[in-house]
Amino acid sequence: MSPLGLPLNSNEINDALKKSYWRVNVVEETGSTQTDLSRSVRVGVAKHGDVLATEFQSAGRGRLDRRFEAPPRSSLLFSFFIVPQTKHQEWGWLPLLAGQSAIAAMNKVFGTDISKKLSLKWPNDVLLNEKKVAGILSERVGDGVVIGIGMNVITPREEIGFENATSLWIEGFVLLERERLLIEILKSFSKYLSAWEIDESELVEKYRQASSTIGKRIRIQTPSGRSLEENAVNVDSSGALVLSNGTRVTVGDVIHLHQE
Ligand code: BTN
Repeated sequence: MSPLGLPLNSNEINDALKKSYWRVNVVEETGSTQTDLSRSVRVGVAKHGDVLATEFQSAGRGRLDRRFEAPPRSSLLFSFFIVPQTKHQEWGWLPLLAGQSAIAAMNKVFGTDISKKLSLKWPNDVLLNEKKVAGILSERVGDGVVIGIGMNVITPREEIGFENATSLWIEGFVLLERERLLIEILKSFSKYLSAWEIDESELVEKYRQASSTIGKRIRIQTPSGRSLEENAVNVDSSGALVLSNGTRVTVGDVIHLHQE
């Protein structure tokens, strides 16, 4: 059994972020922070920098219409809205920046013990010891993007639905104050976003280094049901995965194949 995480405290979180543009609202329970925040954007209530976090979601959403479920206070569940100052065609990079921010936050909180164990699986899974520890959902809403992150922090093994998923707790990284990760992810994201808006090259290179997909033989399944096996060679300026046969993939599920 794992313990319960300490409750998220919005005063402490906003205090730690007071020099930034983030405004964090915490609710005890909701259907989905992603759905709620998107609705607030559409009705003109939410603005650039608004964040909605919760202790429990009854209808958490994942990519490709999947569900994202976690027991109360076991995971970090939040969505944020941003209006990037770049061309829409480049917004495919935003979930990749969110993945990099999640890695930066875990490095900050746990130090060098964790850094070699973290990587990014295209398009937006954060892996710890090659297993998914966090998922990212990025959706265009209004004139910006709502990005949702679900990170398994203190989730016990029996509550993890998939064999290839894990939590920080399972891998031996114990943290009850989930808000420390929330604060560091938001701090890193705003730093990365402004650097990327000026010149994306450094972050693109950083992403490539953190990617465990680039350089691997992969099987990719597109939402239309098409499946192909190829070598992943790069990620282009729009955030698409480039395969060795020249195909650019913008959406799909990747499986890393182990080479003999
Ligand atoms: C995925 O792995 O497919 C993406 C998962 C994203 C889950 C987060 S949890 C907070 C936010 N609210 C949601 O309903 N989904 C995202």
